[in-house]
Amino acid sequence: MASTLAHCSDLDDLLCCDQQDDRLRDQSPEAPPFCADEPPPPPGWCLSGGADSRIERAWAHWSRLGRPKLIVAPMVDNSELPFRMLCRKYGADAAYTPMLHSRIFTENEKYRSQEFTTCEEDRPLFVQFCANDPDTLLEAARRVEPYCDYVDINLGCPQRIAKRGNYGAFLMDKLPLVKSLVEKLALNLEVPVSCKIRLFPDLQDTIKYARMLEEAGCSLLAVHGRTRDEKDGKKIRANWDAIKAVRESVRIPVLANGNTRHMDDVHRCLAETGVEGVLSAESLLENPALFAGYRTAEWVVDGEKGNSDGKLDQADLLVEYLKLCEQYPVPWRMIRSHMHKMLGEWFKVQPQVRDELNAQSKLTFEFLYGLVDRLGELGVRIPLYQKDSLAAGVSQNGFAASTS
Ligand SMILES: Cc1cc2nc3c(=O)[nH]c(=O)nc-3n(C[C@H](O)[C@H](O)[C@H](O)COP(=O)(O)O)c2cc1C
Repeated sequence: MASTLAHCSDLDDLLCCDQQDDRLRDQSPEAPPFCADEPPPPPGWCLSGGADSRIERAWAHWSRLGRPKLIVAPMVDNSELPFRMLCRKYGADAAYTPMLHSRIFTENEKYRSQEFTTCEEDRPLFVQFCANDPDTLLEAARRVEPYCDYVDINLGCPQRIAKRGNYGAFLMDKLPLVKSLVEKLALNLEVPVSCKIRLFPDLQDTIKYARMLEEAGCSLLAVHGRTRDEKDGKKIRANWDAIKAVRESVRIPVLANGNTRHMDDVHRCLAETGVEGVLSAESLLENPALFAGYRTAEWVVDGEKGNSDGKLDQADLLVEYLKLCEQYPVPWRMIRSHMHKMLGEWFKVQPQVRDELNAQSKLTFEFLYGLVDRLGELGVRIPLYQKDSLAAGVSQNGFAASTS
């Protein structure tokens, strides 16, 4: 066991909570069969044929995927397979994996099998890596390319751990390195490379950055409309004007990220920025049915309450999530995190139930289903609301339209 955990200190940086048990769990049956001995695929997804044909291929690929509009953003410990599948059921057209650490991914089989699982229905899929070495990134990317539609580079993580690890948004200070990461993948992978970026304080710098990424072979750009220093997404509004400016400055598909709390935001963002699609993160954690047109009480305007009619609430979604976790096993720390996010409002009403959850050092499905039942018996019900007309006509997978 010790040899499979050779980089414990790195893992400790990336994993949190009750990961000790999780790390030692057996490989999930859904983990794809990695084979280090497989010959590398023929090189060059997008660098042959000059800039114009590269851009055409980027758009052809995007069209082949059905031009997804409603997309689950990458979230460490939170955009794992069962959560992605839940969001897909409720309107998401595509999803990102959580950020994976490219070096640890190449070196540690346990890390690979626990942190990256997928299944046939989990498409279109972006697999995201953080990296600071092109060869290592390529090695990691080759392992996942048969299972995804884009290999994505995280150029936006603003956390201290990213500063220490020299990745994410701190690569904005090392643009030649960023260029070489993108080029390496674009020249050698069979699937296209995408990047998720933040803004520079100066718009012109952001535009130059986006153009450099496109030139280097990036086929799709997701722009989080905040700078590296604007860490608090709840307090600081994302800058959609800057996203629009980026979208007008490059020729590849652009996605917007930030300020998507319900479907009104999605519609406004698409209209105001002209982007191809929208990524949502924090709001989906609380309400995985957001893309199907459901909203939490916080975002209900006068006169909409009549639409709740008790059809769906957060506990229903949580039970669906738990069933997906039984089908697609993931580390307990991820399940615990989703319990807190989806039941957050319920716990405010019944804090002793939250204390019970926190007191459990080891979780079981029996305990978690029982906890949801007890909240129901205590009479707690926090429904989700639907504003019918907004959901229709956006999702490419048809779910939203059929429920409205
Ligand atoms: C729990 C959590 C984990 C996140 N992990 C990642 C990540 O792995 N990679 C990444 O690029 N961004 C990550 N982010 C940032 C989100 O993808 C997104 O850019 C940010 O939350 C802004 O979107 P929002 O306003 O919809 O929340 C994370 C955000 C949250 C809330």
